[in-house]
Amino acid sequence: MDFYGRDFLRILDFSEDELRYMLTIAKKFKQYKKEHKMHKFFPDKNIAILFEKTSTRTRCSFEVAGYDLGMGVTFLDPSGSQMGHKESIADTARVLARLYDGIEYRGFDQKIVDDLAKYSSVPVWNGLTDECHPTQALGDFMTIEEHFGHLEGLTLAFVGDTRNNVANSLMAMSAKMGVNFIACGPSELRPSDEIVAKCRPIAEKNGSTITITSDLAELYGKADIIYTDVWLSLGEPQEKWGERIELLKQYQVNSEMMAKAKETAIFLHCLPSFHDLNTSIARDVNKVFGIDEMEVTNEVFESKQSLVIDQAENRMHTIKAIMFLTLYKKEEK
Ligand code: CP
Ligand code: NVA
Repeated sequence: MDFYGRDFLRILDFSEDELRYMLTIAKKFKQYKKEHKMHKFFPDKNIAILFEKTSTRTRCSFEVAGYDLGMGVTFLDPSGSQMGHKESIADTARVLARLYDGIEYRGFDQKIVDDLAKYSSVPVWNGLTDECHPTQALGDFMTIEEHFGHLEGLTLAFVGDTRNNVANSLMAMSAKMGVNFIACGPSELRPSDEIVAKCRPIAEKNGSTITITSDLAELYGKADIIYTDVWLSLGEPQEKWGERIELLKQYQVNSEMMAKAKETAIFLHCLPSFHDLNTSIARDVNKVFGIDEMEVTNEVFESKQSLVIDQAENRMHTIKAIMFLTLYKKEEK
C-alpha cells in the first residue's frame, strides 16, 4: 500500500484494505495520544487549511493533528484568502503547493477540491464539500468499530436528509466495509442514482446491502447504528427551513425510534446538532416554526446510546492518520 503524495478527496478513491489500514493507524495514534507519547514525525513540514464554510471539529482536528505531528499550520477562511474571489483555484493551488506540504479544503462544489488537487503538487484533503465528507465517515467507522469490536455485518441506518454530504460518504464507507446501509428519508431527499449505482456493486462484493427507503419500519429490529444530521446543510438557503421541517419532522430521531432499532443500537451524529434551544439558529427556527428539537431529541442526544462526543474526538485521530500516511515517505525514516 502506498499513500505517499496521494490526495484524500472521497472514500471511493481508496480500496477496502487502504481504508482499513487508515483505521489501524488512527487507532495507533489514539493510543499514542492517550499515553502522551510524542509523535512529531514532521517537524520540517507545514500545512494550510482552507475553510470557505464554518467549522469547529474539522478545523480543530486538522490543527491539533498537525501540531501533534510536529507541523506548522496556517488557517485561512474566506475573508483571509483570495481564493475564488481574486485568484483562481489553479493559481491558488500552485502557489500554496510551493509553500506547504499539504492542503486541506472545506467548501462548496466537489469540483473545487478536485481542481485544487489537480493543480497542487502536494496532497489535498477534503474537509467537506456539498457532495461528501470523507474524513467524517472515516472517523465514524473508527467509533463504530471501537464500540462493536467489528464492522462487517452491522447495519447503519442514516435517517433524514439522505442525499447530503455526510450520508453520501457513509454509504460509500459502508459499502467498502461490508456494512449494510439503510438511507431512510423522504423521497424528495433520496440519494442520487449515481452514488447508489457506484456503491451498490461494492457493497455486494463485500456482502452487504444498500436500501433506499421512506419507510421507517425498514430499520426497525435491524439497525445497529442510527445516524442523523442537520436538516439544512451549510450553504443551503435559510428560506428552506419550512419545507425541510415539513419533509423531515417524521424522521426525527427520538426515543420511540431508538426503542424500535436493535436493543444494542447506538446513536451517532456528525455534529453540530439542533437538539435543544441552546443555539441562535435553533431559537430562530423555534420562533417561526414552534419546534424546540429538530433532527434528534435532547433525550436521545444525551442518552447512554449516544456516542456523539467519542465520534467527534475520533475525527482528530483519523485526520491525523490520513495526513501521516499521505505525507510520510518511507525512505525518509
Ligand atoms: N462534523 C463536522 O464536520 O463538524 P464541523 O462542521 O464543526 O467541522
Ligand atoms: N451536512 C452538514 C454536515 C456538517 C458537518 C453540512 O454540510 O452542513
